[in-house]
Amino acid sequence: RRIVFSGIQPTGTPHLGNFLGALQNWVKLQQDASADDTLLFSIVGWHSLTLPQDPKQLSIARRDLLAALLAIGLDPKRSIIFHQDENPYHTQLSWVFSCITPVGKLRRMTTWKSRLATSRNANDESEVDESMLNTGLFTYPVLQAADILLYKATHVPVGEDQKQHIELARDIGDIFNRQFRNTFPLPEYIATTTRRVLSLKDPTSKMSKSSPDMSSRILLTDTEKEIRKKIRGAVTDSTAGITYDPVNRLGAANLLTILAACTEEDVLEVAKRYETKGHGDLKNDVADAVVALLEKPRTEFERLRGEQDYLAQVALEGAEKATAYSARTMQEVRKAIGLL
Ligand code: TYM
Repeated sequence: RRIVFSGIQPTGTPHLGNFLGALQNWVKLQQDASADDTLLFSIVGWHSLTLPQDPKQLSIARRDLLAALLAIGLDPKRSIIFHQDENPYHTQLSWVFSCITPVGKLRRMTTWKSRLATSRNANDESEVDESMLNTGLFTYPVLQAADILLYKATHVPVGEDQKQHIELARDIGDIFNRQFRNTFPLPEYIATTTRRVLSLKDPTSKMSKSSPDMSSRILLTDTEKEIRKKIRGAVTDSTAGITYDPVNRLGAANLLTILAACTEEDVLEVAKRYETKGHGDLKNDVADAVVALLEKPRTEFERLRGEQDYLAQVALEGAEKATAYSARTMQEVRKAIGLL
């Protein structure tokens, strides 16, 4: 019996990286699930506060994300779809975990290290300055571990960038099990076949919701025209012919990755077809594939956005189910640590 848990931050409209790296896999897992599997998909509002958010925007993005999750095919009858911030146990368990997690483990998180690197570049200082970063950014993987373990999840489908956080969740579960009582199964990371989807403008970094350059990412809500324009403007190199070289030819490799993900082929097979073709041909075909992939989710998203009562109902039921489901774990934890 599998208990699948995953989450996504409501920091903006989901992009192609979220879709190919994670969301598409959630829908597949839902399709393949057997009757006694449990699937939980969470919109992780608390996590989004680690970076400054405009409250008005956040509240819209939070609702829109629920619409987007339903639009791509998640079904509230088969999966528990809910807002993390509507189940109070997440932050409670997170506190318990932060009291057993060594600081050194969090310092090793690459997400934290890259934050430090960014702030260092901005200031042009050689000394790393932690005082500029908030505590939430540092402890966010602990909250993530709580999200997962609260439901005793066995499988966590996420993109490659989150793998280290799942390993940390295993570590924290293991520490708790040893220190108190065997309570948590150790969750497994489920990889998607898709690699990291990279920024269209700077393929040395991942496609991200937080990049200020809108042309660097394709949104689930982009029109056909916008999609084509962004892909035409994607950064590639000037070498003739196409090869899949994710070290030296990042831009082309990213387009091949996207195309292979859309058509569910092996990326090397796809690359072979373009050996003698140019970047223009590749871009045209990538645009066609992405337009086709996102067409249905986009129309469904626009429709659902007009159904606010229905969305509120789904959120309410999801929160009730998630809270009821996790109450038992929290009770066990309280008993184990002596706070009952
Ligand atoms: P978030 O909101 O950044 O991303 C949601 C999912 O999308 C994947 N992803 C990508 N995959 C491929 N290429 C990209 N460019 C790309 N960008 C994002 C992410 O791997 C993720 O699966 N900390 C998490 C949210 C979270 C969570 C959890 C996940 C909180 N609690 C518990 C799983 C279990 C995050 O910030 O994801």
